[in-house]
Amino acid sequence: MNKRKNFIAGNWKMNGTLDTISEISKIDKLSEGYEGDIALCLPNTIISKANENISHKKLLIGAQNCHHEESGAYTGDVSAKMLKDAGAKVIIVGHSERRQIYKETNEIISKKAESIINSDLLTIICIGETEEEKNMGLTSTTVCTQLKNSMPSISNETNTVVAYEPIWAIGTGRIPSLKEIEVVHKELRSLVSKIKGIDTANKMRFLYGGSVKPNNARDIFDLTDVDGALIGGASLKSDDFMGIINVC
Ligand code: PGA
Repeated sequence: MNKRKNFIAGNWKMNGTLDTISEISKIDKLSEGYEGDIALCLPNTIISKANENISHKKLLIGAQNCHHEESGAYTGDVSAKMLKDAGAKVIIVGHSERRQIYKETNEIISKKAESIINSDLLTIICIGETEEEKNMGLTSTTVCTQLKNSMPSISNETNTVVAYEPIWAIGTGRIPSLKEIEVVHKELRSLVSKIKGIDTANKMRFLYGGSVKPNNARDIFDLTDVDGALIGGASLKSDDFMGIINVC
Protein backbone atom coordinates (compact mmCIF):
# COMPACT_ATOMS: atom_id res chain seq x y z
CA MET A 1 0.00 0.00 0.00
CA ASN A 2 1.23 3.52 -0.78
CA LYS A 3 2.36 5.64 2.11
CA ARG A 4 0.18 8.74 2.32
CA LYS A 5 1.56 12.11 3.33
CA ASN A 6 -0.13 13.52 6.42
CA PHE A 7 -2.28 16.58 5.98
CA ILE A 8 -3.16 19.03 8.73
CA ALA A 9 -5.57 21.81 7.82
CA GLY A 10 -6.79 24.64 10.02
CA ASN A 11 -10.22 26.13 9.47
CA TRP A 12 -10.39 29.64 10.90
CA LYS A 13 -14.10 30.01 10.08
CA MET A 14 -15.27 33.64 10.49
CA ASN A 15 -12.28 34.60 12.62
CA GLY A 16 -9.23 36.64 11.76
CA THR A 17 -8.43 40.18 10.69
CA LEU A 18 -5.22 41.82 9.52
CA ASP A 19 -3.93 42.00 13.08
CA THR A 20 -3.85 38.18 13.23
CA ILE A 21 -1.38 37.88 10.33
CA SER A 22 1.45 37.68 12.88
CA GLU A 23 -0.08 34.42 14.22
CA ILE A 24 -0.06 33.03 10.66
CA SER A 25 3.60 34.04 10.21
CA LYS A 26 4.40 32.23 13.47
CA ILE A 27 2.66 29.05 12.27
CA ASP A 28 4.49 29.39 8.96
CA LYS A 29 7.92 29.57 10.61
CA LEU A 30 7.22 26.80 13.12
CA SER A 31 5.86 24.43 10.48
CA GLU A 32 8.81 24.60 8.11
CA GLY A 33 10.39 21.36 9.28
CA TYR A 34 7.19 19.30 9.22
CA GLU A 35 7.15 16.51 6.64
CA GLY A 36 3.43 16.46 5.84
CA ASP A 37 1.22 19.09 4.23
CA ILE A 38 -0.15 21.98 6.26
CA ALA A 39 -2.88 24.41 5.26
CA LEU A 40 -4.68 27.29 6.92
CA CYS A 41 -8.11 28.01 5.46
CA LEU A 42 -8.72 31.66 6.24
CA PRO A 43 -11.40 34.28 5.75
CA ASN A 44 -11.15 35.56 2.14
CA THR A 45 -10.28 39.06 3.38
CA ILE A 46 -6.86 38.06 4.72
CA ILE A 47 -5.77 35.42 2.18
CA SER A 48 -3.74 37.82 0.09
CA LYS A 49 -2.01 39.47 3.05
CA ALA A 50 -1.29 36.09 4.64
CA ASN A 51 0.38 34.98 1.41
CA GLU A 52 2.62 38.04 1.46
CA ASN A 53 3.73 37.13 4.97
CA ILE A 54 4.71 33.48 4.59
CA SER A 55 7.88 31.82 3.28
CA HIS A 56 6.00 29.45 0.90
CA LYS A 57 8.21 26.59 2.06
CA LYS A 58 5.46 24.58 3.71
CA LEU A 59 2.29 26.37 4.70
CA LEU A 60 -0.52 26.50 2.13
CA ILE A 61 -3.06 29.27 2.46
CA GLY A 62 -6.64 28.31 1.68
CA ALA A 63 -10.29 29.37 1.75
CA GLN A 64 -13.43 27.85 3.27
CA ASN A 65 -16.01 28.06 0.49
CA CYS A 66 -16.54 29.36 -3.04
CA HIS A 67 -19.24 29.71 -5.68
CA HIS A 68 -19.34 26.96 -8.29
CA GLU A 69 -19.43 29.32 -11.28
CA GLU A 70 -16.31 31.10 -12.46
CA SER A 71 -17.96 34.56 -12.66
CA GLY A 72 -21.35 36.17 -13.12
CA ALA A 73 -24.29 37.84 -11.41
CA TYR A 74 -23.88 36.30 -7.94
CA THR A 75 -23.76 39.29 -5.62
CA GLY A 76 -21.47 38.76 -2.66
CA ASP A 77 -19.95 35.51 -3.89
CA VAL A 78 -16.42 34.65 -4.97
CA SER A 79 -15.29 31.88 -7.31
CA ALA A 80 -12.45 29.38 -6.98
CA LYS A 81 -10.62 31.25 -9.73
CA MET A 82 -10.85 34.50 -7.73
CA LEU A 83 -9.61 32.81 -4.58
CA LYS A 84 -6.72 31.38 -6.56
CA ASP A 85 -5.99 34.94 -7.70
CA ALA A 86 -5.82 35.98 -4.05
CA GLY A 87 -3.35 33.17 -3.35
CA ALA A 88 -5.51 30.26 -2.16
CA LYS A 89 -4.10 26.80 -2.88
CA VAL A 90 -6.84 24.80 -1.20
CA ILE A 91 -10.57 25.34 -0.62
CA ILE A 92 -12.87 23.56 1.82
CA VAL A 93 -16.35 22.61 0.58
CA GLY A 94 -19.33 21.05 2.28
CA HIS A 95 -18.47 22.01 5.84
CA SER A 96 -21.45 21.12 8.04
CA GLU A 97 -21.94 24.81 8.86
CA ARG A 98 -22.42 25.46 5.12
CA ARG A 99 -24.67 22.41 4.76
CA GLN A 100 -26.80 23.33 7.77
CA ILE A 101 -26.91 27.13 7.85
CA TYR A 102 -26.81 27.76 4.09
CA LYS A 103 -28.66 24.58 3.11
CA GLU A 104 -25.94 23.47 0.71
CA THR A 105 -26.77 20.16 -0.93
CA ASN A 106 -24.45 17.37 -2.02
CA GLU A 107 -25.15 18.39 -5.60
CA ILE A 108 -24.00 21.99 -5.09
CA ILE A 109 -20.99 20.85 -3.07
CA SER A 110 -19.99 18.54 -5.91
CA LYS A 111 -20.20 21.45 -8.37
CA LYS A 112 -18.09 23.61 -6.07
CA ALA A 113 -15.47 20.88 -5.72
CA GLU A 114 -15.43 20.48 -9.49
CA SER A 115 -14.84 24.21 -10.01
CA ILE A 116 -11.98 24.13 -7.48
CA ILE A 117 -10.34 21.17 -9.21
CA ASN A 118 -10.81 22.84 -12.61
CA SER A 119 -8.96 25.85 -11.18
CA ASP A 120 -6.04 23.54 -10.37
CA LEU A 121 -6.56 23.84 -6.64
CA LEU A 122 -6.96 21.21 -3.96
CA THR A 123 -10.38 20.69 -2.42
CA ILE A 124 -11.23 19.35 1.04
CA ILE A 125 -14.71 17.81 0.91
CA CYS A 126 -16.36 17.61 4.35
CA ILE A 127 -18.96 15.09 5.42
CA GLY A 128 -20.39 14.12 8.79
CA GLU A 129 -23.47 12.92 10.66
CA THR A 130 -25.66 14.72 13.20
CA GLU A 131 -25.96 13.39 16.74
CA GLU A 132 -29.46 12.19 15.95
CA GLU A 133 -28.23 10.21 12.95
CA LYS A 134 -25.45 8.72 15.07
CA ASN A 135 -27.93 7.67 17.76
CA MET A 136 -30.13 6.05 15.13
CA GLY A 137 -27.19 3.99 13.84
CA LEU A 138 -27.12 5.96 10.60
CA THR A 139 -23.54 7.25 10.65
CA SER A 140 -22.26 5.01 7.90
CA THR A 141 -25.26 5.46 5.59
CA THR A 142 -25.20 9.23 6.09
CA VAL A 143 -21.52 9.82 5.44
CA CYS A 144 -21.30 7.36 2.54
CA THR A 145 -24.31 8.97 0.83
CA GLN A 146 -22.80 12.41 1.36
CA LEU A 147 -19.43 11.39 -0.02
CA LYS A 148 -20.85 9.51 -3.00
CA ASN A 149 -22.93 12.52 -4.02
CA SER A 150 -20.58 15.38 -3.18
CA MET A 151 -17.40 14.04 -4.74
CA PRO A 152 -17.25 14.99 -8.43
CA SER A 153 -16.23 12.44 -11.05
CA ILE A 154 -12.96 14.32 -11.67
CA SER A 155 -11.86 13.89 -8.02
CA ASN A 156 -8.70 11.89 -7.48
CA GLU A 157 -6.00 11.48 -4.84
CA THR A 158 -4.06 14.54 -5.95
CA ASN A 159 -6.91 17.06 -6.17
CA THR A 160 -9.21 15.90 -3.35
CA VAL A 161 -8.93 15.30 0.38
CA VAL A 162 -11.91 14.04 2.39
CA ALA A 163 -12.64 15.26 5.93
CA TYR A 164 -14.93 13.23 8.18
CA GLU A 165 -16.35 15.60 10.79
CA PRO A 166 -19.17 14.34 13.03
CA ILE A 167 -21.32 17.44 13.48
CA TRP A 168 -21.84 16.74 17.19
CA ALA A 169 -18.07 16.74 17.72
CA ILE A 170 -17.43 20.15 16.18
CA GLY A 171 -16.54 22.72 18.81
CA THR A 172 -17.99 20.58 21.62
CA GLY A 173 -14.91 18.91 23.12
CA ARG A 174 -16.51 15.51 22.42
CA ILE A 175 -15.11 13.02 19.93
CA PRO A 176 -16.21 9.56 18.76
CA SER A 177 -14.31 6.59 20.15
CA LEU A 178 -11.12 5.75 18.27
CA LYS A 179 -12.78 2.56 17.10
CA GLU A 180 -15.70 4.55 15.66
CA ILE A 181 -13.37 6.92 13.83
CA GLU A 182 -11.40 3.99 12.42
CA VAL A 183 -14.55 2.18 11.26
CA VAL A 184 -15.92 5.25 9.45
CA HIS A 185 -12.60 5.98 7.76
CA LYS A 186 -12.32 2.37 6.58
CA GLU A 187 -15.85 2.51 5.18
CA LEU A 188 -15.14 5.76 3.36
CA ARG A 189 -11.97 4.38 1.85
CA SER A 190 -13.73 1.25 0.71
CA LEU A 191 -16.49 3.39 -0.85
CA VAL A 192 -13.86 5.36 -2.79
CA SER A 193 -12.33 2.05 -3.82
CA LYS A 194 -15.67 0.95 -5.28
CA ILE A 195 -16.17 4.24 -7.12
CA LYS A 196 -12.65 5.05 -8.22
CA GLY A 197 -10.63 1.90 -7.80
CA ILE A 198 -8.35 0.58 -5.12
CA ASP A 199 -5.29 2.53 -6.22
CA THR A 200 -7.01 5.91 -5.84
CA ALA A 201 -8.60 4.80 -2.57
CA ASN A 202 -5.25 3.77 -1.12
CA LYS A 203 -3.66 7.07 -2.09
CA MET A 204 -6.52 9.42 -1.14
CA ARG A 205 -6.19 11.22 2.18
CA PHE A 206 -8.96 11.07 4.78
CA LEU A 207 -8.86 13.55 7.65
CA TYR A 208 -10.73 13.47 10.92
CA GLY A 209 -12.22 16.74 12.22
CA GLY A 210 -14.14 17.74 15.35
CA SER A 211 -12.55 18.81 18.65
CA VAL A 212 -9.03 17.74 17.70
CA LYS A 213 -6.69 19.14 20.37
CA PRO A 214 -3.02 18.63 21.26
CA ASN A 215 -4.03 16.10 23.94
CA ASN A 216 -6.10 13.77 21.71
CA ALA A 217 -4.35 14.20 18.36
CA ARG A 218 -1.73 11.47 18.77
CA ASP A 219 -4.24 8.66 19.31
CA ILE A 220 -6.33 9.83 16.36
CA PHE A 221 -3.31 10.12 14.05
CA ASP A 222 -2.20 6.62 15.02
CA LEU A 223 -5.30 5.13 13.37
CA THR A 224 -4.43 3.34 10.13
CA ASP A 225 -6.93 5.07 7.89
CA VAL A 226 -6.60 8.56 9.35
CA ASP A 227 -4.19 10.74 7.37
CA GLY A 228 -4.46 13.96 9.34
CA ALA A 229 -7.00 16.40 10.68
CA LEU A 230 -9.19 19.39 9.93
CA ILE A 231 -8.95 21.66 12.94
CA GLY A 232 -11.19 24.56 13.91
CA GLY A 233 -10.74 26.20 17.32
CA ALA A 234 -7.28 24.79 17.98
CA SER A 235 -5.91 26.22 14.72
CA LEU A 236 -6.44 29.83 15.76
CA LYS A 237 -3.49 29.96 18.13
CA SER A 238 -0.04 28.93 16.95
CA ASP A 239 0.76 27.13 20.23
CA ASP A 240 -2.26 24.84 19.99
CA PHE A 241 -1.93 24.28 16.26
CA MET A 242 1.78 23.50 16.51
CA GLY A 243 1.06 21.26 19.50
CA ILE A 244 -1.09 19.14 17.17
CA ILE A 245 1.39 19.25 14.29
CA ASN A 246 4.21 18.20 16.59
CA VAL A 247 2.48 14.94 17.52
CA CYS A 248 1.51 14.12 13.95
P1 PGA B 1 -13.31 22.22 15.94
O1 PGA B 1 -13.89 22.49 14.46
O2 PGA B 1 -11.90 21.70 15.76
O3 PGA B 1 -13.34 23.57 16.60
O4 PGA B 1 -14.18 21.23 16.58
C1 PGA B 1 -13.61 21.63 13.40
C2 PGA B 1 -14.25 22.15 12.13
O5 PGA B 1 -15.35 22.73 12.20
O6 PGA B 1 -13.69 21.97 11.04
